[in-house]
Amino acid sequence: MRVAIIGSGPAGFYAAEALLRRTDTVVHVDMFDRLPTPYGLVRGGVAPDHQSIKAVTRVYEKTAARPTFRFLGNVCLGQDLTVEDLRRHYHQIVYAVGNEDDRRLGIPGEGIARCTPATVFIGWYNGHPDYRHAKIDLSVSRVAVVGNGNVAIDAARILLRTPAELEKTDVAAHALEALRNSRVREVYILGRRGPEQASFTPPELKEFGEMEDVDPIVAPEELAGCMIPEAAGNSQQEKNLKILQSFAMRQHGEKTKKLHLRFLVSPKKLIANGDGNVAGLVIEKNRLEVQRDGTVSALGTGETEVLNVGMVLSAIGFAATRIAGVPYDVKARVIANDDGRVVDPASRAVIANEYVVGWARTGPQGLIGTHKAASAHVVEHMIADGAGLEARELPEREAIDALLRGRGVQIVSFGDWKRLDDVEVARGEWRGAPRDKIVDVGSMLAVLDQPEP
Ligand SMILES: Cc1cc2nc3c(=O)[nH]c(=O)nc-3n(C[C@H](O)[C@H](O)[C@H](O)COP(=O)(O)OP(=O)(O)OC[C@H]3O[C@@H](n4cnc5c(N)ncnc54)[C@H](O)[C@@H]3O)c2cc1C
Ligand SMILES: NC(=O)c1ccc[n+]([C@@H]2O[C@H](COP(=O)([O-])OP(=O)(O)OC[C@H]3O[C@@H](n4cnc5c(N)ncnc54)[C@H](OP(=O)(O)O)[C@@H]3O)[C@@H](O)[C@H]2O)c1
Repeated sequence: MRVAIIGSGPAGFYAAEALLRRTDTVVHVDMFDRLPTPYGLVRGGVAPDHQSIKAVTRVYEKTAARPTFRFLGNVCLGQDLTVEDLRRHYHQIVYAVGNEDDRRLGIPGEGIARCTPATVFIGWYNGHPDYRHAKIDLSVSRVAVVGNGNVAIDAARILLRTPAELEKTDVAAHALEALRNSRVREVYILGRRGPEQASFTPPELKEFGEMEDVDPIVAPEELAGCMIPEAAGNSQQEKNLKILQSFAMRQHGEKTKKLHLRFLVSPKKLIANGDGNVAGLVIEKNRLEVQRDGTVSALGTGETEVLNVGMVLSAIGFAATRIAGVPYDVKARVIANDDGRVVDPASRAVIANEYVVGWARTGPQGLIGTHKAASAHVVEHMIADGAGLEARELPEREAIDALLRGRGVQIVSFGDWKRLDDVEVARGEWRGAPRDKIVDVGSMLAVLDQPEP
């Protein structure tokens, strides 16, 4: 059985491992990624100051070492390769392309200079090649981050870290330089609903209280009406409330940077200065309303306030990118699917032998670990549907390589990636960092063009 997996993030790697563990048939997996580097958001999303999370790549290295696995990096589906090519060369296809688009606020002024989706800021500090030239102007003193999830927390934390805290991480060198000279002193995290509805997780929230030069600030009235438990309790909500309460009671000391957590406010309009840069954000106070289905929604009260900020980052979720030939669910903004089986979005008819895993299947929810069981679940469908498929004769396995080379594509193998990895690790040594990332594809390919030492 020959399977193509498109995307080398956690979901793709867990799907590969589940396929390669099959004992009933030998599976050959070709994993493609549009970047020369594997691991998706583990490399390009997970915060540089959370290195322990990135250790999960050791598990993926074991998968990559299996003899019937191949990595074909620097190959973009929809650009270098078509879905028709995949259908011709593989028995089954798994899309594991994540959610690379961001959701928009949809307010007047969105998109003016210094109003940026968190995707851009995160890609920039993580050295993602797409964002290496992003304009991140840190000459402002106050920044608003919209959203109450862990991405908002990550963005705020990186903005407020000291250079000494960042130096020992794998933050991209260009970002380290800019953050060293940053004039940002105050960050506002804005939640449209209340503290009880926030989706950030307690360890991430608590970290603001442990940073070198940051005071987390919660006005006591922000917690009015919340049922603060006696002890921290077990649920995420109870733990968050206890941490927020401790921030509200905290004495503010000598620290020079401030993190304000504001709730029940929605951005309404960006205010630009004469140069067209963000000079303020109009926010509207909300109230909560319980819906018939039990969900709690935020409704505007009409009461507004101007937040005096010079930059706005929106961290309000992501969406799958549309890829030519891959069925797309416009409403859910994911690859159209029924429990991981790709379907035609209009008729909902299953498209045989095509599957989707990870965020491309579900939207942007869930931690890295959740993909292990979720991808294995989709592989169960692949096994159930795939009986006898391997009898279909395919071109030679390497025919896909020849096809791509004929189109001028320089394929990056897993061995090539390991060479890049070694170079990055060596480059990071001078600053005591785990690595200094190479941030553009041309330079990565140039390294690989050099003879091996
Ligand atoms: C900023 C941020 C921080 C996070 N931090 C944590 C954390 O600390 N801990 C945690 O547990 N979870 C964290 N998460 C969540 C975690 O990263 C996701 O759950 C997980 O990465 C999703 O896996 P995926 O494989 O679906 O997608 P991704 O990891 O996004 O992988 C998708 C891959 O597909 C490739 N690709 C896309 N389009 C194409 C194409 N056309 N052709 C070829 N390849 C393509 C991409 O290059 C990428 O390598 C974080 C998420 C974000 C956004
Ligand atoms: N350290 C980590 O472990 C880590 C780090 C980063 C990401 N992740 C994971 O990655 C996933 C994605 O994280 P995320 O932060 O992007 O998603 P998220 O947890 O879904 O948070 C998105 C936030 O945006 C808000 N929002 C949506 N639309 C809005 C609008 N129009 N105006 C104002 N606010 C709006 C949401 O509010 P409502 O709740 O009101 O909709 C929510 O607070 C999560 O599973 C997360 O845990 C983990």
